[in-house]
Amino acid sequence: MLLAVAVIVAATGAALAATPTPEAAPPPTAPPPNISQVIDGAGQFGTFLSLISATSVGDVFQAQANKTTTGISIFAPTDKAFSSLEAGVISKLTAQEKITLLEFHALSAFYPLSALQQAADPVIPTLATDHAGAGKFTINITNQQGTVVISTGLSKAALISTLYNTLPCGIFAINQVLLPEEIFGRPSPAPSPAPSPAPSPFSGASPTSSFPPLASISSSPALPFGPGFAKNPPLSPSSGQSPEGSHSPPCLPPSTLSIVSSLVILAVFNYFFL
Ligand SMILES: *[C@@H]1O[C@H](CO)[C@@H](O)[C@H](O)[C@H]1NC(C)=O
Ligand SMILES: *[C@@H]1O[C@H](CO)[C@@H](O)[C@H](O)[C@H]1NC(C)=O
Ligand SMILES: *[C@@H]1O[C@H](CO)[C@@H](O)[C@H](O)[C@H]1NC(C)=O
Repeated sequence: MLLAVAVIVAATGAALAATPTPEAAPPPTAPPPNISQVIDGAGQFGTFLSLISATSVGDVFQAQANKTTTGISIFAPTDKAFSSLEAGVISKLTAQEKITLLEFHALSAFYPLSALQQAADPVIPTLATDHAGAGKFTINITNQQGTVVISTGLSKAALISTLYNTLPCGIFAINQVLLPEEIFGRPSPAPSPAPSPAPSPFSGASPTSSFPPLASISSSPALPFGPGFAKNPPLSPSSGQSPEGSHSPPCLPPSTLSIVSSLVILAVFNYFFL
């Protein structure tokens, strides 16, 4: 069992280490995709699609994608992400605020997934920054245990899948709508009915959230000794396993106790009835 776990961890580590390399050389002259078609084809983005269509931000996205040497990166919230907002959060916005909110979900350059996973400077300007001025409408992108997490101060979204990942266009699904502080206010007890204090950045149940942290993968036992050959202490759960030990006597584990008491009962039975 332990051995199997060790092998799986080692294999996962190898796979993760291998992923960034293969996509290094995209064809430089690829034509831009039709962004609406890509998002539409993936399903579950109906709300985002109808918003970018109604506001014409879809055309802004497409025009940016048409600049084939810089391109665009788009974070598309799923329909589930929109429906988890309180009613009216989006519809009460002015037309300009809606445009800004949608442009807040795009970066004015193509970042492949591998670049997002390694975001060294976490504070990134968005397409909305281009119109509002430096320092405004920025997002933070970090890699949290293998998951790309985007935070705004009000919301935290996990990147849950990749729809398109070739210059000039990166399109990624996220599990929360990104709410900018510049529109929805700073987080505080009362003011706006905006964001529920975000149950968890991983409420989309991303399977990667259960992976061991990158650090533990890279420090997993060196293979020269053979996988799982002795020393795997980090994975052993045996030492801290009895959470209910508080009411049992200090020395004897419960199983021993029940054996002892069975013996006593047997002895008493023998004494009186045989
Ligand atoms: C992209 O696809 C949509 C939906 O199929 C279509 O309405 C639109 O005209 C297309 N845009 C371009 C630039 O081809
Ligand atoms: C983007 O380029 C396509 C042709 O590749 C063109 O049909 C479309 O109108 C352009 N869209 C914008 C918004 O510039
Ligand atoms: C974004 O990152 C900067 C620099 O690390 C940090 O000061 C800021 O608090 C972060 N903001 C959010 C919303 O995480």
